[in-house]
Amino acid sequence: MKQPMIFAHRGASGQFPENTLPAFEEARKVGAAGIELDVQLTKDGQVVIIHDETLQRTTDGTGYVQDLTLQQIKKLDAGSWFSPSFQHESIPTLEEVFQWMKKDGNSLQVNIELKNNVIHYKGLEEKVLALIEAYHLEERIILSSFNALSLQRVRMLHPTIETGYLIAGKPDNAVWIANEIGANAIHCQPVYALSSYADEAKKAGFPLRVYTVNRMEELEGLMEVGIDTVMTDEPGSFSYSYNTGARSLIR
Ligand code: G3P
Ligand code: MG
Repeated sequence: MKQPMIFAHRGASGQFPENTLPAFEEARKVGAAGIELDVQLTKDGQVVIIHDETLQRTTDGTGYVQDLTLQQIKKLDAGSWFSPSFQHESIPTLEEVFQWMKKDGNSLQVNIELKNNVIHYKGLEEKVLALIEAYHLEERIILSSFNALSLQRVRMLHPTIETGYLIAGKPDNAVWIANEIGANAIHCQPVYALSSYADEAKKAGFPLRVYTVNRMEELEGLMEVGIDTVMTDEPGSFSYSYNTGARSLIR
């Protein structure tokens, strides 16, 4: 049975505040092959790493990311909501993540999820691609989005950068759309990967990256059907299981 690659979902977000540099560094330390993170745009057009369009769940701020400048965003505490020991963490910029990727000993892949299915951030695709090119990270990045038109735009702007069409549930037209927009993979939930649609996707040449799987039993079921990558909040536990053959370590 092929072991899927482990990507840390929002970093090692089970143990660290999601989408922060310590969460990403922990994923590297425990041996994940990659991380997944979410990007939004600030008022002054800077690409920042945060899952929600709004600030209240994961910072001490309120309102929308798009209504604050980067300088204002950087003052927010993005760690205390998770634990007081992370009170000095700030929302990272995509550029800070790229600097981290360039450090010695870091060869991780990074799946950047363009969070533009709720707010259609103008120019997000161009800004992200420009940064990828500036840091020469084309071979280590996968761009994904629930917004098919955005991924189509990415493909128009860049002929080869890897893209993953992100779906929830079991839409019957995912393979058709992925083909139409020139995507390279489908990012889906277990319910899709375990359905007959998954055979169709694999036959059409789309590897499956599956989110979000935190229990070993669930991962084992997915290994049987054959998936490329698993996205988990618990990369340490999954890596440990891989290395030792241990089972059922996951909460
Ligand atoms: O990219 C996979 C997964 O992150 C999509 O859902 O809400 O966790 O960003 P969400
Ligand atoms: Mg995401």
